[in-house]
Amino acid sequence: PKITYIDHDGTERTVEAKNGESVMEAAIKNSIPGIDADCGGACACATCHVYVDTNFMDKVGEQQEMEKSMLDFAENVQDNSRLSCQITVSDDLDGLRVTTPESQH
Ligand code: FES
Repeated sequence: PKITYIDHDGTERTVEAKNGESVMEAAIKNSIPGIDADCGGACACATCHVYVDTNFMDKVGEQQEMEKSMLDFAENVQDNSRLSCQITVSDDLDGLRVTTPESQH
């Protein structure tokens, strides 16, 4: 499935992700800027914060409890904020677009 990452300044980068990996892992593998992932996917750092394209909110699903409490530490949290290490890539998410926050650049 293809995932598109959009910079805070509008630059788009599309990668071919593998089913089962997280949106964060696909970004790190492809050297996408704007996702730091300091904790390596343990839902403990909030530096993999992304904004999910509103058209995909239903498919991505709601924030989990642990994710919600981690997002309290992130800046500029919005309704479509998610931690990208907690989004698992699947065929359903083909074409997913996420925007990275300026604070992670
Ligand atoms: Fe640390 Fe996602 S990588 S919370």
